[in-house]
Amino acid sequence: MHSEHCVSSHLRLNIEEYDRIIRTYIPRYEESRGVQLELLAAANIPARARIVDLGGGTGSLAEAILERFPSSSVLVRDIDPEILALARTRLARFAHRVELSHGSFMDPLPAADAVLCAFALHHIPALERKAEAYQRIRNALRPGGVFLNTDAVSGPFWPSLREEWAVFMAGQGFTLEQAYGNLDSWAAEDTYFSVHQELTAMTQGGFESPECFWRHGPIAILGARV
Ligand SMILES: C[S@@+](CC[C@H](N)C(=O)[O-])C[C@H]1O[C@@H](n2cnc3c(N)ncnc32)[C@H](O)[C@@H]1O
Repeated sequence: MHSEHCVSSHLRLNIEEYDRIIRTYIPRYEESRGVQLELLAAANIPARARIVDLGGGTGSLAEAILERFPSSSVLVRDIDPEILALARTRLARFAHRVELSHGSFMDPLPAADAVLCAFALHHIPALERKAEAYQRIRNALRPGGVFLNTDAVSGPFWPSLREEWAVFMAGQGFTLEQAYGNLDSWAAEDTYFSVHQELTAMTQGGFESPECFWRHGPIAILGARV
């Protein structure tokens, strides 16, 4: 009992640390979360909606959804079992309204009224693969459903967007050199496409009218109603 309690408080510390750090890395993290939830509310999905948080990590987006939409249920899918353990701890208070699912962006999804992603799909390195992931999402959505993806985007002005991003991090306690170092090291795993490329991949994935709903510099919310 005692050791379980220790593990749980340790996990909680990790969650708090993750929540703090991601806000120093990502410009407008909090603001984009608020806009994503407003868009979900505007979509008018059923009160007892089934929502997927894809690449849900520690479950921070899922937590915000479960709080804001108290009759909804959320499936959190992520490829990393350790991070899912953090999500389990964070979301324990929502009990039966949460399902944790170990799997990939490429795996089929259960039927859903909404699929939301935050800062996750940039782990897909090629547009053809991204179109396949979008197809999985499109196939899961019920009529009237919505897809809302918050993520970094590039485009023809990437050098100035990259600079804007580095300057943001420099305002969060990093030196400018460290900030550029962060972006360089993430580039090994993360791929940012232009909004145009993303919308094209969504169309290839079967979305008829994909949109850019919101954008500030390198951060955007893209998606579609079906
Ligand atoms: C930067 S985190 C974002 C987590 C969370 N959505 C948030 O906003 O805090 C990216 C997440 O994507 C997950 N991920 C990476 N590749 C994945 C894949 N192929 N399938 C599912 N999840 C993946 C990682 O394990 C990680 O939890």
